[in-house]
Amino acid sequence: MDVIYVILTVFAGLALLYILWCLAEPFFLDMDKATLKKSPRKDPDSNNIVVKKQPMTSKDNGLTPDLKFFFFSDTHAEWCPVNAKRICSAIRDSHKASALDGVIFGGDIITYPRNAARGFRYINEVSSCCKELGIPFYGITGNHDVNITDFAAKAGFTLIDNLALPLTSKTSGKKAFLAGVPDSGTRKLAWPEMPSCEGGDPVILIAHDPDTLIHIAPEKRPDFMLSGHLHGGQMKFPFKIEFRVLRKKDKLPNMGAVQGVFDISGTTVFISRGLGCGIMPFRFLSMPEATVVGICL
Ligand SMILES: [Fe+2]
Repeated sequence: MDVIYVILTVFAGLALLYILWCLAEPFFLDMDKATLKKSPRKDPDSNNIVVKKQPMTSKDNGLTPDLKFFFFSDTHAEWCPVNAKRICSAIRDSHKASALDGVIFGGDIITYPRNAARGFRYINEVSSCCKELGIPFYGITGNHDVNITDFAAKAGFTLIDNLALPLTSKTSGKKAFLAGVPDSGTRKLAWPEMPSCEGGDPVILIAHDPDTLIHIAPEKRPDFMLSGHLHGGQMKFPFKIEFRVLRKKDKLPNMGAVQGVFDISGTTVFISRGLGCGIMPFRFLSMPEATVVGICL
């Protein structure tokens, strides 16, 4: 009887620790860096999707990024303990350390459209901070944003859904396109087309759902892509159950592309874990993340 009591007490203690950790993790912020360089592989005729994990920062010494962006995604403002003040402070610190070419939001201001006002308050605070520092602020819609009324007018950033903006590096003079695509919503009724980017300059695509890439014709795929959506799994389970069962329709996470930098069939992709919590107010082994992304053109 005593043995059973001890075993049950140990299990109850572990369960309590697990719950406490899940509740605490959303309050942390992992402020990291990623350096993306162009993939040497470019096979425009290939429909074969190959996922190759890359280091967050390049081991190639002397590689200087031509463009630097502060990228954050998935605020889901209903429960996002990493508040806008912390993001503004991180933007200020990053800009002071090395001038930013832009701040980019990767979609999903909220989980439920009825809470849109809360999401706009968060994003508008970041927008004011960008204006004060003179940094352009760009963004796209995520799958939870598609039914929000007046999204473009209220977002407080330059909405780049279906647009491609020409950018020039202040350090090297090299040119690139910053392109964006909208999300079509959770039921994924349609995948977006690539905006037109003529002239041959490298293309940096912002797409909320990483799976967007595999629905773009191989010859139109961008050189770089920044995404969110997956929350790093939000709560990690053994054997990747969170993807194999709960997100079994998502292709790239089931091929190993969940968070970090990847070479996916010739496109260099960064997938952020995002900041907030979708549906459940928990995270486990998937700390909120904002990232300074350096791009080598
Ligand atoms: Fe999300």
